[in-house]
Amino acid sequence: MKKIEFFRHCIEEGDIERVQRVLRSIFLTTGKEVEEFEQKFSHYTGRNHTIGLTSCTAALHISLIALGIGPGDEVITTPMSFCATANAILHAGARPVFVDVEEETGNINAELIEPALTGRTRAIIPVHLYGQMCDMKRISTLAERYNLKVIEDAAHAVEASREGVRVGQLSDSVCFSFYATKNITSGEGGAVGTDNAALAVAVRMLRLHGIDRGAADRYTKRYQHYDMPLLGWKYNMDNIHAALLIGQLERIETLWQKRNALWGIYEERLRGSRGIEILKTLPDSRHARHLFTILAAPGKRDALLWSLQEKGIGVAVNYRPIHLLKYYRDTFGYSERDYPVAEEIGNRTLSLPLYPSLKEEEVRFITDALKDELS
Ligand SMILES: Cc1ncc(COP(=O)(O)O)c(C=O)c1O
Repeated sequence: MKKIEFFRHCIEEGDIERVQRVLRSIFLTTGKEVEEFEQKFSHYTGRNHTIGLTSCTAALHISLIALGIGPGDEVITTPMSFCATANAILHAGARPVFVDVEEETGNINAELIEPALTGRTRAIIPVHLYGQMCDMKRISTLAERYNLKVIEDAAHAVEASREGVRVGQLSDSVCFSFYATKNITSGEGGAVGTDNAALAVAVRMLRLHGIDRGAADRYTKRYQHYDMPLLGWKYNMDNIHAALLIGQLERIETLWQKRNALWGIYEERLRGSRGIEILKTLPDSRHARHLFTILAAPGKRDALLWSLQEKGIGVAVNYRPIHLLKYYRDTFGYSERDYPVAEEIGNRTLSLPLYPSLKEEEVRFITDALKDELS
């Protein structure tokens, strides 16, 4: 039977050789390759600083801590994301406050943020869902008016911009993921980007227990005693993971172009199909083309999910809304109809394969299978 994987990474021989060079060297943890990756990533994203980490969850967590957010504070975010976004707020000791999303894009509805503010609100975490940026101009204006911090969850959106604004340009911190299915990947990995030098110093310390010197300092220079002015975590990216990312970063635009072309084919072949909808790419938006999702007719998604899988097509659901996950229901008392738009998307959304090595004929096979099921 034909098998079309939901995702395939695009690691090449050159990437493997770069990792081999690290493995043959003496120094495996945070050092030269991490520095090289951080510099190149800063250059690509246009941020002044990048700090390489073990995950985007870690990036969100220590961004909150470095910005002074903790117990007693509320952080506004979206229920239409992976649970990592809200979990990081809980890890920081703060409380996530959800705001419903836009029907057209699935992104946080900026109009609904102001009514959700309380005297305890300290920050907003917008998530650029599927790769399309939220309305950062509006969100940052609001944040300035109410003196709130903004941390972007750009796990899907390394390549995105909107109205001339790049990810991380209008916020305190932007968080990236290099998890196994992301646009560039090291299996697990993440980073914080920021233009704020003091914040970069704090995040750099918090990624390594809050100590003021890394192992590379002890290895490349003469031994110096370190101190621990802060209590941090163990979230530092190592040279092996960084080596895997450097080559992919050099190819990131070509990889985007391939996904963008496949996206165009999907849209063209599915446009007007009865029984499904496609979320909108806004006119002034450079969509990172991370996840191609369709919305099935109400009540029809799961049947579609099973039948596509039976035909050998890898599928996923991104996402079941966070507030309806058991822990959030039990802890905060959420229930159905609290965030109706997110719930509607959560009940109808279905993600189809999208990656640079996906073939045009495979997209045709997938769209034909989908149309068959809908007829
Ligand atoms: C929107 C979003 N935020 C955060 C994360 C967490 O990323 P990581 O697995 O790197 O911690 C993910 C990962 O899938 C995600 O999709």
